[in-house]
Amino acid sequence: MKVVAGSASLALGKELARVTKSPLVDVLFEKHPGGFPDGEQYIRLLGSVEGEHVALVQSTYPDPKIVELFLLQDALAEAGARKVSLVIPYFGYGRQDKKFESGEPVSARALARRLQVHANAVYTVNVHNPEVLGFFDVPSKDVSGMPALARYLGGKGVDLVLAPDDNAQRFARDVGDSLRVDWDFLEKRRIDSFTVEVTPKAIDAKGRTVAIVDDLISTGTTIATAAKMLRDQGAKRVVAACVHGLFAGNALARLQVCDEVVATDTLLSPATKVSVAPELATALAGGRV
Ligand code: R5P
Repeated sequence: MKVVAGSASLALGKELARVTKSPLVDVLFEKHPGGFPDGEQYIRLLGSVEGEHVALVQSTYPDPKIVELFLLQDALAEAGARKVSLVIPYFGYGRQDKKFESGEPVSARALARRLQVHANAVYTVNVHNPEVLGFFDVPSKDVSGMPALARYLGGKGVDLVLAPDDNAQRFARDVGDSLRVDWDFLEKRRIDSFTVEVTPKAIDAKGRTVAIVDDLISTGTTIATAAKMLRDQGAKRVVAACVHGLFAGNALARLQVCDEVVATDTLLSPATKVSVAPELATALAGGRV
């Protein structure tokens, strides 16, 4: 296998190549220094992929990375790759997984249908709703980044893992079980993009180090609200942990209520501290997909 990484996922691609002991194919992202005057993108594979199985790694966020991914896919086909396993570490648009109001698209489906062109298999990481994998006609698998978070949190003295909402319960359970510590969850109601209501709940947080885990942090409102509640209930330390650190706008400032913020390398940010490459390597070696 060879690894090709788009510019959204260079660090993870490099780590995946290291973990799987596969060559990383260099890619040129600008034809001329500064790029094309009109802002159009360019890529060029600098190594051979003819007859190879290629793991192509690229998150679909922000939007220009989607176009870059199309270019990479076309270049791999042109260059005669035998098989392409498309790894989408963060599947942007996964949250619009249905038509919420008339006239809307099913954005996750719109992306899936186009991304699977030139892909023999697709791997995602904690896609927001695993049912979106049904939009791919090629074999697909969602890989959990929770073991990576557990690996990081293992050395942090965490004695309680908390999910900020119902949906994240399974994440808190997985991480709590890995760390062999208690886990609990809160009930959340989203009012709008920047406002959430967390139902008050007595958490056994006094004097404890609590890790709040979620699949993603966008505005940080969900985690910040939960963290404030934990502080009020006497938590000694609060660590926010997510797989996908989007950190939109001033999310990181909002999260200063936490003692530490950690995210994986599905997206790069100042909070990226652990890699999901081992989990992806295991999935890619699994063979079924
Ligand atoms: C929601 O279901 C997700 O798991 C996250 O809890 C949510 O998207 C986080 O958003 P924000 O950081 O904007 O509160």
